Amino acid sequence: MAAVGSGRRLRIGVLISGRGSNLQSLIDATKQADYPAEIGLVIANTAGAYGLERARAAGVATQVIDHTAYASRGAFETALSEALNASGCELVCLAGFMRLLTEPFVEAWWDRLINIHPSLLPAFRGLQVHERVIAYGARFTGCTVHFVRPAMDDGPIVVQAVVPVFDDDDPDRLAARVLIEEHRIYPLAVRLIAEARVRVEGARVRIAGAPRDDVSLINPRA
Ligand code: GAR
Repeated sequence: MAAVGSGRRLRIGVLISGRGSNLQSLIDATKQADYPAEIGLVIANTAGAYGLERARAAGVATQVIDHTAYASRGAFETALSEALNASGCELVCLAGFMRLLTEPFVEAWWDRLINIHPSLLPAFRGLQVHERVIAYGARFTGCTVHFVRPAMDDGPIVVQAVVPVFDDDDPDRLAARVLIEEHRIYPLAVRLIAEARVRVEGARVRIAGAPRDDVSLINPRA
């Protein structure tokens, strides 16, 4: 990814399928004068996605590319790429985009395609994450921003946040606790990438110049 310096902002495309609260966190971040990225286009694969209204309210360009209108996944993904390229997007952010993307699309956007997932990957890939975290009895969960690879919820990890799981949690309450952290780490990950501080080295990411907290967490505390 080219370094974004001297006032130029990295142009991102955001792909959504629904509520769009993570999109909102990116919109809010890009409103800050010193944020190094801007949203060039929001694409939804369904016209009813509430996130489209959030984008319109913020004056961000939107497009609906309805997967059901295409004969194949390949044709749908070609339309996605064409729209993203036409609007000059350099980085694609999946934000609650609920379509699996196939290898040609992932390869076309290699190291320029990121996703947010509501668990501490590689644990709890897939759907019904919070139900499974609770059923498993995990004491911590969290969220992950990662570069996308062809396997589902797989790829080099950029940022994670950790969230405790409590005995009386239900999936909704846990999801809400995780979502607060999602809204912090997605704008952070995009900022780190835009500042060219993120380097993908094989299966992992190295981040330049990030302060670090050396803290351990125990749940439950004695
Ligand atoms: C978020 O919790 C996101 O992590 C999750 O969908 C939700 C979308 O919410 N994504 C996945 O599970 C992808 N595997 P939002 O539409 O309010 O951003």
